[in-house]
Amino acid sequence: MRIIVTAKSASANAGVFVAPVFSDQLDAPHLSEVDAKSGGRVAALRAIGEVTGGRYVSVLTSAGRLPADHLLLVGAGARADFGRQELQRWAAAATRRLAGRRVIRIAVDATGIIAALTSTAPALRAEGGASFGPGLAADSVGPRDAAITAVDFIVRGVIDGSFHEGVGGKSVIESKPAPLSVLEIIVPNGTDLAGAREGARRGEIIAGGVERTRRWSNYPANEMPPLGIAEEARDRARAVGLRATIITATQLKRMGAGMLLAVGKGSKNPPCLVVLSGGKPGAKDPLGRRLAMVGKGVCFDTGGISLKPPAEMEEMKHDKNGAIAVLEAAATVAQLDPGRPIHALAACVENMPGGNATRPGDVVTALNGKRVEITNTDAEGRLILGDALHYAERELSATHLVDVATLTGIAYSAFGGEVAATCGTDAALLDEFHLAARRAGEVYWPYPLADAYVKNMSAWSADFQNSGSREASLIRSGLFLREFVTVPWVHLDIAGTAYRRSATPFAGRGSTGAAHTSLVELAMGGGVRR
Ligand code: BES
Ligand code: ZN
Ligand code: MN
Repeated sequence: MRIIVTAKSASANAGVFVAPVFSDQLDAPHLSEVDAKSGGRVAALRAIGEVTGGRYVSVLTSAGRLPADHLLLVGAGARADFGRQELQRWAAAATRRLAGRRVIRIAVDATGIIAALTSTAPALRAEGGASFGPGLAADSVGPRDAAITAVDFIVRGVIDGSFHEGVGGKSVIESKPAPLSVLEIIVPNGTDLAGAREGARRGEIIAGGVERTRRWSNYPANEMPPLGIAEEARDRARAVGLRATIITATQLKRMGAGMLLAVGKGSKNPPCLVVLSGGKPGAKDPLGRRLAMVGKGVCFDTGGISLKPPAEMEEMKHDKNGAIAVLEAAATVAQLDPGRPIHALAACVENMPGGNATRPGDVVTALNGKRVEITNTDAEGRLILGDALHYAERELSATHLVDVATLTGIAYSAFGGEVAATCGTDAALLDEFHLAARRAGEVYWPYPLADAYVKNMSAWSADFQNSGSREASLIRSGLFLREFVTVPWVHLDIAGTAYRRSATPFAGRGSTGAAHTSLVELAMGGGVRR
């Protein structure tokens, strides 16, 4: 798709002209102009209640003298609630509205969007992450960055909205996206066009990473075993200039990664640890960090001997989402800033029952030497992550760690599909991550690592156990991981946000690409206060 950023006066003919409608400003300046050029279409449709500005409420009508064949009005909700995530979803919904249509060229009117992004009430303006008090205010965008951010997130949304499983996927269930070959974004006269075009390039690279994360995570387990992830990762690394190391089961055995191996024992598909690295070996990034991102790559989670009930077990092919997110995040970073030091580690394994599977009550020695009683083989994510986190510290000298996992069903019940849970050992890094996430258009919320519950992890035959009673089980999943880190660390539990159980106007069902972009922001320094 060719992306053109043009000042208002210069816009060329498009198939469909897309304009946002804000529910609290139905007479916005950009709409008055669209209304006039379209021959009063906006006013006429507003008069009968067809155009309301309600989120994703859309109407396709005639374009009149607008430089297009058709006009698509898409509701964007109230301006005060309009931040990066809302913009990206708006653009994706507009694109999905055209699915199945023969449209090859669209023009998106960004003028009203730029105004809306900067019009957020001052009280709500504190940049996301830090303001855990009053609730989830829309993130604000400074006036200087508004045009660049608008273009960036429109591009991301249009690419997101064009996502499709394609041939071999479920192409018969959802109609194919419109075959867009040109996306024109119209900005106000006087906009810094070079900056906006840079935003478009950034958006395109990031959206490509999200798209690949979604596609790759959606693979069924029969087509994507642990070594399949390794192969894909090696290809990606070659394409973007990262180093790839695959640590095989044999090497893991020699090394003593007892927890990762224990989870893989029941499967014929052997586990592995995939490491992608950028920059000179041992180098620190411009923020003085050796950041390592660690992902849970359970290609399928049956629960093992602690077998899961059959209902929705097929969703557990998505239990590798964290691993894919870190691998793709590293690839995206390598494209945005070639040579930037970064590590991604994917702990890949299949959790199966079987004659050789780990039993409840088995005791294993972790890579860091701690003895762990596996009381529940379904709490496997923390086992594989514990070994991978320690590996990152010991073998890669990581100074900062972030791990990503579809770790607990509780994170989904408690926070749902829109908010992911975090915890960590370092307030500064947590804060940095939360700010990076808001700038990425994602929502995370922290839970406390309360030491009072450490005793609930105690085992009588080992240093501690991997599971236990229901009490504070989310907190204990974090406390367990903490046993394997000594440097600043943040944990992301994306069990709720990793995949969608049903389609929305802005995305189909399946993997969401969660965490990819927040990780990219974190790695690129986007969590640093400006
Ligand atoms: N992969 C699951 C968590 C999960 C559940 C992700 C539902 C997405 C949707 C994880 O390995 C798991 O089974 N967790 C257990 C932990 C428990 C045994 C302590 C859970 O949440 O029930
Ligand atoms: Zn799992
Ligand atoms: Mn499990």
